[in-house]
Amino acid sequence: MSGGPESAVSRETVSRETDHQSDQATSSGNGDDGFTAPYNGISVEETPIGAAAHRASQVLHPHSVSLPKPPERRILTIANQKGGVGKTTSAVNLASALAVQGLTVLVIDLDPQGNASTALGVAHHSGVPSSYELLLGEVTAAEAIQKSPHNDRLFCIPATIDLAGAEIELVSMVAREGRLKGALSEKALGEVDADFILIDCPPSLGLLTVNAMVAAKEVLIPIQCEYYALEGVGQLLRNIELVQAHLNPDLHVSTVLLTMYDGRTKLADQVAEEVRTHFGDAVLRAVIPRSVKVSEAPGYGMTVLDYDPGSRGAMSYLDAGRELAARTAHLTKQEQR
Ligand SMILES: Nc1ncnc2c1ncn2[C@@H]1O[C@H](COP(=O)(O)OP(=O)(O)OP(=O)(O)O)[C@@H](O)[C@H]1O
Ligand SMILES: [Mg+2]
Repeated sequence: MSGGPESAVSRETVSRETDHQSDQATSSGNGDDGFTAPYNGISVEETPIGAAAHRASQVLHPHSVSLPKPPERRILTIANQKGGVGKTTSAVNLASALAVQGLTVLVIDLDPQGNASTALGVAHHSGVPSSYELLLGEVTAAEAIQKSPHNDRLFCIPATIDLAGAEIELVSMVAREGRLKGALSEKALGEVDADFILIDCPPSLGLLTVNAMVAAKEVLIPIQCEYYALEGVGQLLRNIELVQAHLNPDLHVSTVLLTMYDGRTKLADQVAEEVRTHFGDAVLRAVIPRSVKVSEAPGYGMTVLDYDPGSRGAMSYLDAGRELAARTAHLTKQEQR
């Protein structure tokens, strides 16, 4: 395997140089997802530059586009007990992508690390009403919701370090697996009429993740295009089946997102192919490239869409968000059958 500091440096340099180049290789933008409107007379399906310009304009002029509102609120749990696969990065950037394109989105940070709260620029020091108090029934969702400073339609229930003790405290509680679901009842969000709720899970399959799976209908699994990508996914799927059988019959894996794709490695392609064979249509066509901008953004309390709207990372999350929203009609049809 090529490794070591030298290759890491050259890799970084190439990423920087190519960050604003066409995202053709990593992100579909091919029009199948309903993205067919001409831009200044240019069919965006035909020219990658036209497509990139259109998407950049969406970020810079957010009110110029709007995705269809789902017929009912969609709640997605973002889970993979493998650490560092892009759960948090995908939660905040997909949320931002949906919000930039006109939808109202709430991110629930259910990881004591509080990384989603950091990336969304919301306060999450001890004492701030958070997902911990929400699970304990001490505050309502409306009381814990904060608006992200970068987008009026993007909201977050933060996680504080107090959440670290919750796994143990929940064990002795009544209806311990259903506490988050109970806290998200119809009117609980107050004035925030969220079209999407994305729940960022910790890298474990404990009670916090189970609470997220009981509260949601959909699971979104981010998979890193690296060695051992599918390691642990079998265990995750078995847990989803258990929750489905005993606690939440509606739960299903609706979406798989390939993250940290490096188009220069054969391995990334092999992993992507294997994941598509395994999960079929659930895998979004948009793939998130490995990009320095994506990893830098949280350090500024921003999503990549705010930090560098023209970057490949921002573009691919916009594509992924649009695809996710476009699947609403499809999902509803399936459910009606
Ligand atoms: N597309 C990307 N390009 C470059 N770096 C990325 C990308 N996606 C995520 N990262 C970086 O990889 C690391 C892990 O990502 P992230 O925190 O989203 O994973 P996670 O699954 O939430 O981790 P954990 O299991 O600890 O919660 C972070 O440092 C993040 O900035
Ligand atoms: Mg995380």
